[in-house]
Parts: sequence; C-alpha cells; structure tokens
Amino acid sequence: MTRKLFVTTALPYANAAFHIGHMMEYIQADIWVRFQRMQNDGNGPREVHFVGADDTHGTPIMIAAEKEGITPQEFVAKIAAGRPKYLNGFHIAFDNWHSTDSPENVELSQSIYRKLRDAGLIVTRTVDRFFDPVKGMFLADRNIKGECPKCGAKDQYGDNCEVCGAAYEPTELKNPYSVFTGSAPVLKPSEQYFFALSDPRCHGFLKDWLNTPGRLQPEMVNKVSEWLGEHGEKLADWDISRDAPYFGIPIPDAPNKFFYVWLDAPVGYLASLKNYCGKKGLDYEALLRDPDTEQIHFIGKDIVSFHLLFWPTMLKFSGHPIIDKLKVAVHGHLTVNNEKMSKSRGTGISPLRYLELGMNPEWLRYYLAFKLNAKVEDLDFTGEDFISRVNSDLVGKYVNIASRCAGFINKKFEGKLASGLSDTAIGWIRKALLKDDGSERQASIAAHFEAREFGKALREVMEITDITNQYVDENKPWVLAKDAEKTAELHEVCTTALILFRQISILLSPVLPAVAAKVQAFLGDGAYDWAQLQVANGQAWEPMLGRTIGAYSHLMTRVDATMVENLFDKPAAPDTAAAAPAEAAASSIEPIAEEIKIDDLMKVDLRIAKIVNAELVEGSTKLLRLTLDAGEGRLRNVFSGIKEHYKPEDLVGKLTVLVANLAPRKMKFGVSEGMVLAASAADEQANPGVYVLQPWPGAEPGMRIR
Ligand code: 2FM
Ligand code: ZN
Repeated sequence: MTRKLFVTTALPYANAAFHIGHMMEYIQADIWVRFQRMQNDGNGPREVHFVGADDTHGTPIMIAAEKEGITPQEFVAKIAAGRPKYLNGFHIAFDNWHSTDSPENVELSQSIYRKLRDAGLIVTRTVDRFFDPVKGMFLADRNIKGECPKCGAKDQYGDNCEVCGAAYEPTELKNPYSVFTGSAPVLKPSEQYFFALSDPRCHGFLKDWLNTPGRLQPEMVNKVSEWLGEHGEKLADWDISRDAPYFGIPIPDAPNKFFYVWLDAPVGYLASLKNYCGKKGLDYEALLRDPDTEQIHFIGKDIVSFHLLFWPTMLKFSGHPIIDKLKVAVHGHLTVNNEKMSKSRGTGISPLRYLELGMNPEWLRYYLAFKLNAKVEDLDFTGEDFISRVNSDLVGKYVNIASRCAGFINKKFEGKLASGLSDTAIGWIRKALLKDDGSERQASIAAHFEAREFGKALREVMEITDITNQYVDENKPWVLAKDAEKTAELHEVCTTALILFRQISILLSPVLPAVAAKVQAFLGDGAYDWAQLQVANGQAWEPMLGRTIGAYSHLMTRVDATMVENLFDKPAAPDTAAAAPAEAAASSIEPIAEEIKIDDLMKVDLRIAKIVNAELVEGSTKLLRLTLDAGEGRLRNVFSGIKEHYKPEDLVGKLTVLVANLAPRKMKFGVSEGMVLAASAADEQANPGVYVLQPWPGAEPGMRIR
C-alpha cells in the first residue's frame, strides 16, 4: 500500500494579511508534508496533497468590504493576491490555494447539508435573535460583544471566546452590546436552522471517534470528552443559519437564509482538494474513498470545538468516506517572551517585515521546528534564544562542516572525493549515524518527524553534527593539508566529513528546503529521499565515493542581532504628561499598515474636489450621491457611504479630498468615479462617527495632494 495523505492547515479569514501565527502553523505542516514526500511505502513515493484556501464568508468580511466601498468578492480577491509573497517567502509549498467562495464549496456544502437533512439532523426552530434597535437590524455574532459565558473575559465576540476558546451562542454572552451603536440589543423572534448535535447518534459516534487510538492528542481527547458530558447531555444543537444580508452560501430551500460561516469553512478543505484534483486530472471521489487515504488537519487550539465536534459529525452523518481516516493535529499559540504578542508592547512580529529585513526564512523554520512538539503547548519566541539557536546549530555546527572541508577537495583533488574509505573512516560514519544499540538514527528521526516531534528529531540530527565536528576537530584537515605525506589522509577525512554533511542535509531537508537544494547542486545530487540515509546497506556513503563535486559557496550567514531588534513592532509611544489618555489612544487605534515607499504613495492621485451637489439615493440606507468638481472641466459622480452621518444640504459647496485615479466601479445605483476620504475609529462602539476630510482655506478644486 502507498499512504495517501490529504493535509490541510486552518483556512485563514480573508480579512487581513497573514500574521506570524499563521506562518508557524504553515511551517509546521509544510515540514511534515516535506518529510512525508521523502518516504516510500514500497511502490514509489508517498502521495501527498497539501491544500489551503481563504475562509471568505461571514459578517466581518462583509463589513470590511463595505467600508472600502467594494464588493466582498473584490475584497477577498485583494487579500488572496497578497498570499503568495508570504507562502513563497517562507518556502511553504501548498499544492493548491483556493477559496470557500467557490463553486466547489457551494456544491459540497449544500450537498452535505442535504444529506444531513435527509438523515434527520437538521431542525428548524423559532429563536430569539439579537436585534439592534438603534440600527434596526438583526445582529450577526460578530456584531455583538460581551463577557464570555465560560470564563468571563470581557469584549468577546458572540460566537467564541478568544481567551478560553469556548464556542457559544451570542445570546449566552453576559452584558451584550451592539458593536455598531453600543446599545443593548433586544431579542426578536426569527426562524433558524440547527444541526441537531444533541441527537443521541452524534454523541454515540463522537465518543468512539475521539477515542480511536492515534487520531488525536490525549489532552484533546480529554478536553473534548468533557464537552460531551458522560451521556452527551452537554451537546447542544448548533445554529447554522444567518439572515440576509450575509456574505455566504444560500441554504437550499430556505429563502433569505445563509449558512453560518463555520458551516462551510471546513468544507473548504474538500473544495480546495476537489479544485486541485480537477486541475491535476486526479479522481477526487476515488481519492476520498481509497482506504489508504488519510486526512490530516493542522489547526490551532482556539478552533478545536469546530473541528472536533461539528466537523466530524457533519462528515459522519453525510456519509463521507474520509471520516474514519481523519486526524487532527492541534498546536498551541506563538508567544513572545512568554506573553501574547502585542503591537502596543512592541512584541508583535510581522512576517513580511522579517523578509524585508533580509532575514533568512530558514532561520525561522529551523527555530520553530526546534521548539515544536506534538503537544498542545504554546511556543515561545525570544530574540536571544533565536539568535543563539540558529547561529550555534546551523552556522556553527552544520554549515561549518562543509566550509571546513569542501575547499580542500576542490583545491587539492580537483573536486573528486576519495574512491574508498578505511575501516576507521567507516567506523566514524557508523558512530555518527547509529545509536548505541546499533539501530539507525534515521529511523528514530523519521519516527519523530512522523509524530510531529520536530524538536526531538532535530536534537538527534544535532548529535550527528556534533560527532562529525568531533571527527573533523580530531583529524584537523587544515593541518593535514600542510604535510605532503598526508594527502591521502586529507582526502579521506574531507570525503568522510562531506558524506556525513550530506546525510545531515538530507535529514534537515524537510526543515531547510532551500539549503537542501543548494547542497544538491553542490554535491551533484538529485532530489533527496529517506532511502539515501540507510546505513545497513551502505546507501549512506557508497554513492558518494569517487564522485566529483562542485564548488562550495557559503550556505548560510549568521543572524545579525540588529535585524532581530528591528523585527518587532515599535512599542507604543512613551507616556506623556497626559499619560492616561495617550495610553488609551495607543491601545485602541487601528494598527499602522505596512510600511510603503514614496512611490507607492504617489500612485494614489488625491485631488481637492468641490461637492457641487449631494442627494439621497433611493433604495440605499447608506449611500449619498455626490457630484464633484475636481477642476477637470467635467463633473464626477461618486457614491459615498456617509448617509447616516451627513445631511446632503450640509455638504453642498464644501471642499473635500477625492481619490481621483481609482478605477470606476459599477454599483447597483450607477457608476462611482472615485472615492471621498473620511476618517473613522477602529472601535465603532467608542466612536461610531465618520468624518469627511476638508482642506484648509485656500485650496482649490483640482489641486493635487502630495
Ligand atoms: O479561525 C480561523 O481563522 C478560521 N478562519 C479557521 C477556519 S478553519 C476551517 F474550518 F476552514
Ligand atoms: Zn472565555
């Protein structure tokens, strides 16, 4: 049999760029995937399909798009366009990146839903839903905040708590308030669709499923078992519907109702796989039905309830073949100096800044891998630890082997390695690659990678590195090189050291893929696989004997401490005389966007424009139609979402700022030819106002802002 692995990472919300926590999860999964791709179950390399996608639906994205005056589809496309620079930058090699807002996901989500309905697991009920009496609309989960019903944390969203990870209904929040108006929401009846998790079949299935050996980490089995209750009495039905307007997938046969984002998000895993199979000409259905196929989800500890209660039950009762081969690998969060990352404290790390500073992505891959294990534990990043781990292990120990030996092979032996080795040299190879009990280290390192115990795997690799350096230190090629009679010895020592260097490179290649590619080019190797590590059959050294290698160029530089200093977000401004208000402002303002160059700014053509007319737009609760004169000898029509904040007559005759080179956009009410600038607070509850910009006296229509 050949194992077929379908591997995913949690699908990120398409409302922001990746943060460093995303990169940690992707690096963890990517290392595991690269390790799996090097394995052969007897009939060729293992088949691995590694897919991701953007999680696009739900209210926050709808609101963010609305704020920018673009459609949710345009908004998520913009976010998707930013993904590759992060993924490529950190060598994360997904086979496919898709979207939950895709035809595959609509079809699969609706089909799973229909099967659940046929199985009698969808129920409807009239429930009281929160309604904002000031704004006059039903409030989605993320439009309501309050205190977590489980741990009491303040300002938690209506669906789950970011502090304790609990999932709940918005009506369970204590002291709820609307994020739009700050008012206390009132309950109004509304018919909703539920997934009947309280059905005894669900508990019956889940308790067996969770306890299947090897499926989940023991601490997860314990945690989720507590959520079930002994007889499933703690399992409550799950509200899976949301009222229009909602950016999501329509519920079949339920007008104006949409799937709650968490219903279709995990289906996005399958949608991405299906999309990928389509592109590759693979048989999606057959792959899922194949008993040798396994599905592995890498996720963070904050989204366990969705993946270990709802998702498996959905798969099971929609008759999905993959359910018996589903594993979930949960990791903790990334902390900095043992604290949650915080921009205002200056402990946030931006992945893009890391790359822009010229920091080597493989430093981070190695450092994180060294600290990762299979437990649900937080992983702490500290600058000093990072510098010393990378400089000592990768530069001081690993790269040092090649840099001390390769030059002699090139200079003294025309690049050719020795054709045979003495028993002493083979003895050192065995000493480095075998454990005290005679077993091969590659086998235990493989077991550690398989079990996601990357730290243990790398510690063993470093033991090989230490023995190799001990060998080089004891034989001192730089001394042998000075003695013409020791040429054969020099040849053997450098050959042996490079053989071990190659072994270490193969073992590190899931973590350091770019370095491995350089080593392959330098040593004249093809792609690396685990079979090349075998000591028992001599594979570990024989292919190297007599081989001509290329010129060595340095593989990795040391981490520079100033780079690490610049890596962190700048802390909030120090307290001034008005300490309390300054601090409050620093912590509540929206984070400053990524740095840009002056050229980027100059791409945006901002002009002074006169509002020559302003009027209401029939059928729109948000928009005003503005007629603007930007000194061009023509007037522009611009829709602006400021109706709730300005009376049209108060705007007429005023000057404002227009984004003049924005592509015209077709809207329901006509074409908008630009955008008017306005300020708003990140925290709408604290300040729901929108403030249109007005220049100082003297500015005239058409003047450019620079
Ligand atoms: O927590 C999150 O970022 C979610 N977007 C994860 C979804 S994972 C999967 F279900 F799609
Ligand atoms: Zn909580």
